[in-house]
Amino acid sequence: MDRGRFLRAGAAFALLPVLGCGGERLPDYPFRLGVASGDPSPDGFVIWTRLAPEPLAEDGRGGMPPDRKVLVRWEVSEEEGFGRGVVRRGRVEARPELGHSVHVEVGGLRAGRWYWYRFEAGGEVSPVGRARTAPPPGRRERLSFAVASCQAWTRGDYPAYRRMAEEDLDLVLHLGDYVYEEEDTRTLADFRRLYGLYKSAPGLQAAHAAFPFAAVLDDHEVDNDWAGSYPEDYPELGREEFLRIRAAAFQAYYEHMPLRPSSLPQGPRMRLHRRLRFGSLAEIHLLDTRQYRDDQPTGRLIAPREPEALAAGRSMLGDEQRRWLFAGLQRSRTSWNLIAQQTMLARYDYDTGPGVNVNHDQWDGYAAARERLLGFLRESRPPGPVVLSGDWHAGFVNDLKADFRDPASGTVAPEIVTTSISSGCPWAERVKRALGENPHVRYFGGDRRGYVRCSLGEKLLRADFRLLRGAGVETAASWVVESGSPEARRA
Ligand SMILES: [Fe+2]
Repeated sequence: MDRGRFLRAGAAFALLPVLGCGGERLPDYPFRLGVASGDPSPDGFVIWTRLAPEPLAEDGRGGMPPDRKVLVRWEVSEEEGFGRGVVRRGRVEARPELGHSVHVEVGGLRAGRWYWYRFEAGGEVSPVGRARTAPPPGRRERLSFAVASCQAWTRGDYPAYRRMAEEDLDLVLHLGDYVYEEEDTRTLADFRRLYGLYKSAPGLQAAHAAFPFAAVLDDHEVDNDWAGSYPEDYPELGREEFLRIRAAAFQAYYEHMPLRPSSLPQGPRMRLHRRLRFGSLAEIHLLDTRQYRDDQPTGRLIAPREPEALAAGRSMLGDEQRRWLFAGLQRSRTSWNLIAQQTMLARYDYDTGPGVNVNHDQWDGYAAARERLLGFLRESRPPGPVVLSGDWHAGFVNDLKADFRDPASGTVAPEIVTTSISSGCPWAERVKRALGENPHVRYFGGDRRGYVRCSLGEKLLRADFRLLRGAGVETAASWVVESGSPEARRA
C-alpha cells in the first residue's frame, strides 16, 4: 500500500481552511471503531466509519469537539494497495449531530467484484475495508453469505466473528441484537457509549472490514421485547417518553451501522425494511418486525397461550410493510427469495402435555400475521422462498406448515434460524424437552454459539451451522434446500 503518499496527501489536506477543526489535528487516532460497508448494489455499496478517538467518553461525543464538523476523505480502490487502483474518491462532512459518523453511498462501480476502501481525517488513515458489489441484473452468480444475530458483550471479543472473518463470504446478514441495552441505557449518549464498547472488539471489526453487512435491528438495540410504541422494561414511562428513548436508540443504531441515508431516523421513526438484489439469483427482503407490530398479548415470554395471540387482525409488520413485502414477492423473478427477519416464524409449543405454551414475543404471539404471510406464500408461490431468522440464541431448521395444528398439512417454505454470536441460551433444555410436540422442527442445535454460512446457487441453497468448539469452528450440521422444494433436508 502506498501509505506514505496517502498520508502526505492527508496531511496537506488537513491544512486546508475548510477543515472543520480549523486545521488543527484531531485529539487522537479517530478510527477506533473500525470501518464497515453495507447494502451492496450492482454499482456500489455504502461505506461507514465514525470518528471517535475516545469511544467511551461520558458525554457520548467519542472525544470529538461538540460544535465542529470535520471533513473526512474516502477512497475506493480496485486493488488492495490503492495507488493506481483508486477508482472513486471524495470528501464528506462528519457532523457532531450524527456523532461524527459518515455514511458514503459509493456509486459508479463495476458489478460483481471486490473493492477496498479507507478513510482519512486530520492526517490519520483508517484501517482498510473490503466490499463486494452485487452481480449485474440478469446474471446468476453464486452467493455466499453468513447469517448472524445476538452478540451480548461477554469477555471483550467475539470468537465467532473472528472465525467468520476467515470465511469466504460475499455478505453478512445481521438480524438484530447487535448490542444489548441495560436498564440505565436511555439517552443518546448512553447508547453511543454502548456501541463504542461493542464496536471496540477486534473480531467484530475484522468481520465488518472483510464483508459488507446488511443489518436490521431487533429488540435489544432499544429495549427488551419492545413492540411498536410499547416498552417492556419501562412500565412507569408513558409512550411519549419511550418514543424519546426509541429515537435515541435508532439514531445510535444508524450512527454505528453501514446503512444508507434512506434509513436516517426521523425522530422515533426509521425505515429499515428494504430489498437487496443479487442478479437473477436472489432477492433478500429485510424486514423490521419491531417498529410496526402490535403489543405482545402478555409480558411473559413462554407461557400458556393467551387467547389474544390468536386474535384476527394482529399485526407484526404493519400494513405498509406487509404490502411492500407481498408486492415485492409477487413480482420477483429471481430464483430465490430470502425473507430475512428477526424472531422465529414457526410455531413452537413448549407444553409437553395437551396445553399450548408459546413465546408471545415470536410470531406465535401474532398467529394471524403468520397465517397471512404463509397464506400469501402458498397462494402466490413466489420462487424459492426461504425464511431466515435469529433472536432465539439457538439454531433451528423448521418446516413452515400451512397449518401448524395439523402435522400432515403441507409445508410452505423452510425456515433457517441462526444461533447467537455470543448470547447464551438458558432455555435450550426447555426447547429440547418439547421437541416431540413440534414435529415440524427438523433440527435444533442447542446451546452453542456461532452463525450460519450459506452458499446459494441456482439449484441449491446449502446452510452450514458453523458452531464454535474451543477457539475453532466446526460445521455441526448441514442442510440443503433444492430449488422448487419447500422443505430442507440434511445434506
Ligand atoms: Fe438476543
